[in-house]
Amino acid sequence: MTLISDIEILDDPGKTPGRGQTAASWAGEDIDKARTTTVEAEGHRRVYIETYGCQMNVSDSEIVASVLRQNGFGLTRNEEEADVVLLNTCAIRENAEQKVRRRLRDFQGRKRTGRNASSNGNGSGSSPIRLGVLGCMAERLRTKLLEQERLVDLVVGPDAYRDLPRLLRETDETGQAAVNVHLSREETYADIAPVRYDTNGVSAFVSIMRGCDNMCSFCVVPFTRGRERSRPVSSILSECARLVEAGYKEVTVLGQNVNSYRFQQDGVTVDFAELLQRISFVSPELRIRYSTSHPKDCSDDLLHLHRERPNVCNYIHLPVQHGNTEVLERMRRTYCRDEYLRLIERARMLAPDISLSTDIIAGFCGETEAQHRDTLSLMEQVRYDYAYTFMYSERPDTYAARKYEDDIPEEVKKRRLSEIIALQQRISLERNQEEVGREHVVLVERESKRSTLQLCGRTDTNKMVVFDRKTYEPGEYVRVRITGCTSATLLADPLGRTTLFEFAESAAA
Ligand code: SAH
Ligand code: SF4
Ligand code: F3S
Repeated sequence: MTLISDIEILDDPGKTPGRGQTAASWAGEDIDKARTTTVEAEGHRRVYIETYGCQMNVSDSEIVASVLRQNGFGLTRNEEEADVVLLNTCAIRENAEQKVRRRLRDFQGRKRTGRNASSNGNGSGSSPIRLGVLGCMAERLRTKLLEQERLVDLVVGPDAYRDLPRLLRETDETGQAAVNVHLSREETYADIAPVRYDTNGVSAFVSIMRGCDNMCSFCVVPFTRGRERSRPVSSILSECARLVEAGYKEVTVLGQNVNSYRFQQDGVTVDFAELLQRISFVSPELRIRYSTSHPKDCSDDLLHLHRERPNVCNYIHLPVQHGNTEVLERMRRTYCRDEYLRLIERARMLAPDISLSTDIIAGFCGETEAQHRDTLSLMEQVRYDYAYTFMYSERPDTYAARKYEDDIPEEVKKRRLSEIIALQQRISLERNQEEVGREHVVLVERESKRSTLQLCGRTDTNKMVVFDRKTYEPGEYVRVRITGCTSATLLADPLGRTTLFEFAESAAA
């Protein structure tokens, strides 16, 4: 068996986010970086969008791009030539906000000096740059951003993106900042076809719901994104069908708590399992993932679907947050340790090859050493394939901020987090070592970062695999045999092109 340490280290739990990066998880995707638009579009004024936070924000930036393009704006991936700079922000932890503030200061510096370094060549060289803050920092920071950091022209919350063109006109006309942070009970942007950017043309995000009603005591999301609402079934299915027509092979359906999806259509209630099943019939060759699911809503119907439908991926991101029942109660997660463990057992019984990842918070208010050890023991018991791990960060207005003291010293939080990371690295490595010799179907996503002679893509179980390019291309399904691993990546020999249908038939035989 080959053990490799330096091929394609993705999703490494020990990795420190670099500049412009914010640690957010969501279903086995490392979205720990600021992303910028990678499509360009002609238009009178060019917009540059930088996105922080989770996949939901990435998906929202695609909606923003679509709204602006329909209104005659161009898109650019070059911040130097932008007339409008939009930062789509994240508020999940303090350090996420700090990164955005640093970036804002960069742009504000440029704004003060007149405009960006190069003329954009469209004759509008003298118009001032407009700087906007979108997303999850908008609501809470609107007063602060406008009063203390006067150079922000736009503050737009996640439910107000249709209003962007009007707000831009308003700030142009008045010279004053324009704000809309209204949170809606209905908005799902169902009719807006997102402009796909930052895309490999192979996998796409499809947002199926917005907001969150769960009110976990540590979490700011219900405050930044408002009440939960589900998008109509028909608009989700037609978006998936359009993606198939455009050559996409994988969709990740998104929401804060996707498995609480519920939509009434023609007198029938479609729940998440039913929705997923319908998507799985759009095309047998379209692979489906979802993010994020809450343990309280993980039904047997959903678990069965993982086994029954070959194109519903054998992978669930099922955030536990903590291994101790009392802490879980204080976190308001609505399940206890034993219920969670029973759910994992049931998932493995109904969908035997399922791979599992989780989110864990270290150093929540009042966490004792013994409670911390319960998290470690739960991890040993479940043996997750992967874990996203965070130090608790107090968020204003949350139940925890109002009722509990953030009393675990920083060094203790850090030490507990590093114990969690070290344990998960060992478990991830062991789980990957168990893969050596097995065959998988991989959807090729792109060239490997380390070598143009290699490609990479994910297994059905969401493990990143690197293998020799030979004649394979992104977007193809390739049968591979695993030959080696790190804790984050599998190394494989490609065995030939295949289809999901063919691979499932051969696995069943
Ligand atoms: N809706 C999803 C994801 C929410 S944010 C879910 O419920 O699973 C992603 C993760 O960030 C959470 O699962 C949690 O582990 C972490 N997180 C949220 N608020 C946090 C806080 N205040 N401090 C540290 N981590 C936090
Ligand atoms: Fe936050 Fe909990 Fe909602 Fe997830 S389920 S977004 S952690 S409140
Ligand atoms: Fe961040 Fe908002 Fe997502 S707070 S994690 S961008 S929902």
